[in-house]
Order: sequence, then structure tokens, then C-alpha cells
Amino acid sequence: MVAENGTRDKSGLHGGGVWAIIRRNGHKTMNTEPKRVKIFDSTLREGEQSPGCSMNLAVKLLVLEHLEALGVDVVEAGFAASSPGDFEAVQALARAAKKTVVASLARCRKADIDRAWEAVREAKHPRLHVFIATSPLHMECKLRMSPEAVLASAKECVAYARSLCGDVEFSLEDCSRSERPFIYRVVAAAIECGATTVNLPDTVGFAMPEEYESLFRDVLANVPAAKDVTLSCHCHNDLGLAVANSLAAVRGGATQVECCLNGIGERAGNASLEEIVMALKTRHSFFGAETGIDTTRIYAASKCVCSVTGQKLQANKAIVGENAFAHEAGIHQHGVLANPLTYEIMTPESIGLPRNKMVLGKHSGKHAFSQRLEDLGFRLDDARVDELFAKFKALADRKKTVSDADIEALAHNSRGTDAPERLALDRFSVVASDVITPMGTVRLRMDGELVEKVGTGDGPVNACYTAIREIAGLPEARLEVYNLTAVDGGMDAQCEATVKVSNNGRSFRGSGVSTDIVEASIRAYIQALNAALADSGAAPAEFDHPQRGDTGVH
Ligand code: KIV
Repeated sequence: MVAENGTRDKSGLHGGGVWAIIRRNGHKTMNTEPKRVKIFDSTLREGEQSPGCSMNLAVKLLVLEHLEALGVDVVEAGFAASSPGDFEAVQALARAAKKTVVASLARCRKADIDRAWEAVREAKHPRLHVFIATSPLHMECKLRMSPEAVLASAKECVAYARSLCGDVEFSLEDCSRSERPFIYRVVAAAIECGATTVNLPDTVGFAMPEEYESLFRDVLANVPAAKDVTLSCHCHNDLGLAVANSLAAVRGGATQVECCLNGIGERAGNASLEEIVMALKTRHSFFGAETGIDTTRIYAASKCVCSVTGQKLQANKAIVGENAFAHEAGIHQHGVLANPLTYEIMTPESIGLPRNKMVLGKHSGKHAFSQRLEDLGFRLDDARVDELFAKFKALADRKKTVSDADIEALAHNSRGTDAPERLALDRFSVVASDVITPMGTVRLRMDGELVEKVGTGDGPVNACYTAIREIAGLPEARLEVYNLTAVDGGMDAQCEATVKVSNNGRSFRGSGVSTDIVEASIRAYIQALNAALADSGAAPAEFDHPQRGDTGVH
């Protein structure tokens, strides 16, 4: 019988061919109960720290829903002490979580721990996640503390956190570059003081898989109490090894993996949740480990993160990239048609990606449309679905078929921002020419009143922006970033404009979508100016994060 991974054995469950190779190479095989590996998701903390990935509270609550549907064990909701906005978000997420553990990060400082506890204490399952750096470089240059002082601080803070909360995680920041004897002392002390989870991060993505695996083996061999707590890994992707290192850690004895959806995170990102979970599932026998994740929810959760952060995935991204299950070469297509296992080690269905999707067009009904929205990770109330359905119908009149990318762009762009819509587009016309000065006439509704202005510029978009700036009364607003991309191929493609506008030293983002490039550009600009108008002095979300030097978090 052919197993899901395409190899054969008697039971049909595990790959005989793979097993033979594994046995020959002398690796451990699974003849005991699989160990349960906890999935600790940090999309809302580490992920949100990546440039351009800031999320407002409504969006964080939506991501939380997806994480709970996936069945992650722990959600790191943020770093409560880093800003009032982060505190409020962590608190709201802690209150909203139905079943998962909710953690807040805290430095080894009493004030941080108090703030973190205040934020998570109402969660059904709260966790305090306390950290301090243990590498010579970090202790000397960043913390300016001696190893003994770091050890004392770790003990004091873990004990204090444990006096507040029964679930305490302690992280040795930059552990992979720390000295083994010191690691053993700190881990032993943290456990003695009450840590229930100990995390050994590869903070700067420096480790090689063999080294990282041996770190876990060595800690288990040298700290007897380590086997009684959850041992966690946390890997960054600076050398593209975050997933490989996390999987190596599991082989070395880690029982918790910290990761982010789509692998977002500081710098080159963190280990990707979907890749780790699918590796453990697809190579179940090799790892002898399983997670509690419902993998059929992966695709929707990944799409949701793309949509709320506006960050697109590379097409060849493992598991969730557009091409992950696409077969172009004739020889592959032939094989897949004969038997999908020839070239597919996982099924698209196993990550929640339907193999045969109905094509959506102008004859499609609301049911099929709202189902597709859900498959793409959008969970919207009826009023929003109705609103989007009207837009979908209008688009379907202009395009033969409406692609997933089109639907995502519609849903993403009509979500707007939290800012009130003081400006709204009523109509526009442009003169584009290489003979006379381009001109744009824009009529907007400003606080309910129709106002029309004419602007000139280098091109039609620039001309319209001049007119809009004047209507908004924001003459100083400066366009810092302007991007225009085709959502899909073809002559009738929609395009998406994204802009970043600065005003009074602060930046505001906007995006707009249309089959007309000028209209998409106008809509994006209006969205950014609405945010600028609403700005009441609070720092925009994008700059809400603590400075790295201030927190020591990477
Ligand atoms: O990368 C890191 O080391 C961290 C810890 C604070 C967990 O984010």
C-alpha cells in the first residue's frame, strides 16, 4: 500500500523505503509513543515586530481566532511593558482567548513583569515569559552585567513571576552563542526558582542544525531537572535555517517550538509555523513527534496574516506559497494525474486548500463567494460580506473570471483603517498627455460636503494627488512611498496601489484597488490622508514598538 508520503510499508502508514534509509543511517526510529510537541505562536509578538507587519487590535483579535482554530498551544500576545498600545492589545487578547495559553513577554525587571501580569491575568490560561541574555557578547555589551549578576537577576525575576503566575517561561536570550557551563547553571537555577518552560533561543539565527540539536541534548544531559519542564526552541532565519534548526531541536529533546505564521518576524523572520507543523506531520515516523494543530486550518490562517499585514508571500514559499502545489512541467503533470503521490508529499487538502476550486465569475452566487472568502482566511460579518459581494459583482462585470488574488485584494482594501472616513471619492477625471501638462479634477466628499479641485502634476496621478491634498487641507503631506502592482495577469487585471504618506513627522499607509490605475492610486492616497486627518498625536501603529536597544528583544 502507498502511504501519504509515497513510500510503501505493510501497514501503509509509514514509508518502508524511507525507513530502510533511516535505519541504515542509524537514526532513531519511532517504536514508542510519539511525543507531543507544543506549538507556541509568536505571530502577534515577534511577527508583529517585523517591518511593515504592525497590526491594530481588531486585526490581532482576528489572527487570534485563526490561531485558536488551528489549535496552537500558546499565543504570545505581545510585550505588555513596551507601550500602552501593546499592553491594551495583550489584555484584550488575554480576555478574548477561549482555550489557548496567552503569554506576555517581559524583561527581567519587576516593573515589566508586573505590567505583563496585569495584561494577562484575566486569561483562562495566563503565562509570563521572562527573558535575559546569557551570551558573553550580550551580557558585556548590551546589558553591561557580569554573568553572576545575570544569574542573580534571572533567579529573582523567575521567582517573582512564579509568585504571580503558575505558568512561567524563562528564555536565555542568545543562548546558542552562550557558554555551555553558564547555560547549565542558568537553566538549573530558573527551574529551581519555578520556571515551567525553559527556552533556548537561537536569537540571531547563527546556529547550525547539528549544533542546535546538541545544545538540547547537552542541557538534558547536564541539568537533571530539565526533563521535568517543557524545553523550548525559538529560531530566527538569518541564515535560512530557522525551520531546520527547530526540527533539529525537536530531535534533540525540545517539546515546544516557537514559531510564526508565514515565518514573519524580526529581520529575516522566525521559524514558520506551517513548515514545522507539516514537516512533523509528513515525516511523523522520522520525528516520532506530533502537534495538536488542525492542519486543514493552515491555509486560511496564512492568508489572513498576508491580508492583515499586507505582506505577500513569495510564490515558491513552502506549504502556503502560490506555487507550493502547482505543477508546471509536463512530466510532473503526467505523474500527478496518474497518482498525486508521485510528486506531492502532502495533499493540498491537508492544509485546507481545496484541489478543485470553482471559478468565480458574474454568475456566481453569494454562498460560493462567502465560502471562498472564508477559505481565503476572511471571517466577516454578514454586512461586510454583502458589501464585498456587491463589489465582487461589479468587478465580475468588468473581468471574465475573478481570481483569489482579486478577492483578497477587494477584501483587504475595503477593510480600510480604524480611521474615520472624512474624505471619500465621489468622481474624478484626468488629462494625461506628453504634450500638455497633465491635469486631474477630483471631487471628494469631505465631512459630507462635495468639494471639487483641479490639480496639475508630472502625470495624472500626481495631478490628482495635488487636488486631493488641497481638498484635505494637508498641504505639507508628503508622498514617501508609492507602489503599483497588478493583482493578477491579463489585460483586465485589477491593480493595487499602496502608499506611505508623511505628515507632521508621522507616516500613514493607504491602499486602494481598481481595474483603473488612477482610481486605485486615488483610493490609496485618500485612505492614507484619512489616517493623517484622524491622527490626534498618538504614534501611528507602525512606530509603536520599543526600540531594539531598549528591550533587547530580537
Ligand atoms: O529571539 C529571542 O531570543 C527572543 C526571546 C526573548 C524569546 O525573542
